[in-house]
Amino acid sequence: MTAETRPPVLVTRRLPQQALDRITAVCDMTLYDGEDAMPRGRLLAEAAGKAGAVTLLTDRVDEEFLDAAGPQLTIVANYAVGFDNIDVDACTRRGVLACNTPEVLTETTADTAFALMMAAARRIAEGDRFLRSGTAWIWGPLMMLGQDVHHATVGIVGFGRIGQAVARRARGFSMRVVYHDTARPPAEVEQELAAEYRDLEDLLRESDFISLHTSLSTQTRHLINAERLALMKPTAVLVNTSRGPVVDEQALARALARRQIFAAGLDVFEREPEVHPGLLACDNAVLIPHLGSATVQTRLAMANLAVDNLLAGLQGRRPPALLNPQARDPEPR
Ligand code: GLV
Ligand code: GLV
Repeated sequence: MTAETRPPVLVTRRLPQQALDRITAVCDMTLYDGEDAMPRGRLLAEAAGKAGAVTLLTDRVDEEFLDAAGPQLTIVANYAVGFDNIDVDACTRRGVLACNTPEVLTETTADTAFALMMAAARRIAEGDRFLRSGTAWIWGPLMMLGQDVHHATVGIVGFGRIGQAVARRARGFSMRVVYHDTARPPAEVEQELAAEYRDLEDLLRESDFISLHTSLSTQTRHLINAERLALMKPTAVLVNTSRGPVVDEQALARALARRQIFAAGLDVFEREPEVHPGLLACDNAVLIPHLGSATVQTRLAMANLAVDNLLAGLQGRRPPALLNPQARDPEPR
């Protein structure tokens, strides 16, 4: 990549300026500057002939996208740790590098999960709504009682980086930590976090808090369904900062409405940006608009990592967060 050959790249939403400046220094950038997700037709049209793209979880990178982009496409740098919006196999077949932004958002997303646990257990959002409603009130022994977080048992489903970061926070609250995952971490990790493995059903029966940290796949779609909700304690709080479709929202809305579980804290939804009306109707659901990684610091770190990935791919170096080294490894080991 030289000054004379500025590769054309597409960026599908405005990112922190510092990251955009790094792109425009060496690339010809097309930026979609709308407030919405880039409309599909426009995404496909603007992808044509690009060498690289920075995409979001609201952009589907599939065969149709790759066809529209054409053979010059070298790299797709997703601005997210999750990449269920990307058909990585299709990228690999065409020799397109696919990248994500792991690690830089781990602690921030764990903070979000903890914030939702606390808010749902202690009825923080409900209390805020109540005060703003102007309803008369006086301190009362039985007013808006929640559930203790400290010394409770938290069940972490998906024990990767983010799940483990939640476990570290839980230790600070003297919580007992159990986890479920398809792969067991090294024994040292279990020991350091004092985390005990459970099969999923046992975890759901035993936990006061259940926090979801899996990726979205055919195996995890509706992992939390009516049957599994029925295993949870009536005092249980379910938190989801992973992907919406991991939970059957219809079943969750029913369980919340019937007080079959105590509360839920949700950052992600099955049909984003739509939120199930049954959830909106539940006072015991804390609902936030996919803010898991949404801090000034972390969104800048994600943008810089996405740009590191993009520029490495365009310059024939190995991107730092490459998902498919088999696609066209620029630096074979
Ligand atoms: C956001 O949801 C992400 O995957 O980074
Ligand atoms: C995501 O980065 C995870 O592994 O939890």
